[in-house]
Amino acid sequence: MTRLIEVLPGTVGREMPSRTFRLKHQLAGHSLFKLERLAKLAASLPAESTEFNGPVAPGQDPKLTPSNGLSAEETVRRIEECQSWMVIKNVEQDPEYKALLDACLDQVADQTGGVMGGARRRQAFIFVTSPNNVTPFHMDPEYNFLLQIRGSKRMSLFDHKDRRFVSEEDLEMYPGKHRNLPYRESFEAKATQQHLEPGDSIFVPLFDPHWVQNGPEVSVSFSITWHTDTSENLVKLSYVNAGLRKLGFPQRPAGTSKALDAIKVAAYDVARPLYDVVKKFVGDRRKAVALFFGRTAVAN
Ligand SMILES: [Fe+2]
Repeated sequence: MTRLIEVLPGTVGREMPSRTFRLKHQLAGHSLFKLERLAKLAASLPAESTEFNGPVAPGQDPKLTPSNGLSAEETVRRIEECQSWMVIKNVEQDPEYKALLDACLDQVADQTGGVMGGARRRQAFIFVTSPNNVTPFHMDPEYNFLLQIRGSKRMSLFDHKDRRFVSEEDLEMYPGKHRNLPYRESFEAKATQQHLEPGDSIFVPLFDPHWVQNGPEVSVSFSITWHTDTSENLVKLSYVNAGLRKLGFPQRPAGTSKALDAIKVAAYDVARPLYDVVKKFVGDRRKAVALFFGRTAVAN
């Protein structure tokens, strides 16, 4: 059987790696990534499943992100000239994309001897970007393989444990926080740069900040993400530590104390369903956050 995605020998050991590595894939030219099909996909999904904007910079202020004045479907159809960045989120809502996501992750799991941990909470995203556009500096709270389908891009990646590039506070997450992180041009000399052409793929480690410069053509990328027990616990700790910081008790990073981490994860598991009930009851995320963390939480 032809593999859709191939892990290169020697790139993955007994544990999920903490550094980026390269893979190859066979999805360039796949019919699910033609612009016509992507325009239909964008039109078929709920509005909250698409996000798009005009030209931005690596250190983009989220409050000043420009609109492109188009619908999601129009953005795909006019991507060649509309100078836009677009993500179609949770494309696994469509059964054809779900099947492709599952096939790719299952194939990687088969080649990596258990390090994918069952590859739970699978999600997929498709990035459609105009020539020369930029994805601002941010991090993602999941393991990710980015598959370049069409066009080229360069991703600049940084170690999330290196405090020269991102603070502990900026890594912590809370509901409603914008994903963009502060970026300075001086970072670039220390970046791990991954150049992607159709057929190339890279692993993007959990939490590692990155920004993307697209090449001189339309770019289409397929992002397939998943979680293991480890990543789920690290995300929970990130939320708990952010909440404690909001309450005036900044925390040391996850991994400093296994016992304390376990208590925090247990606390998250108790508090999260309560938060969801409160959010449903008050009908508003900002009010729910305020009830949990006090007024300062919603001022950020
Ligand atoms: Fe990302």
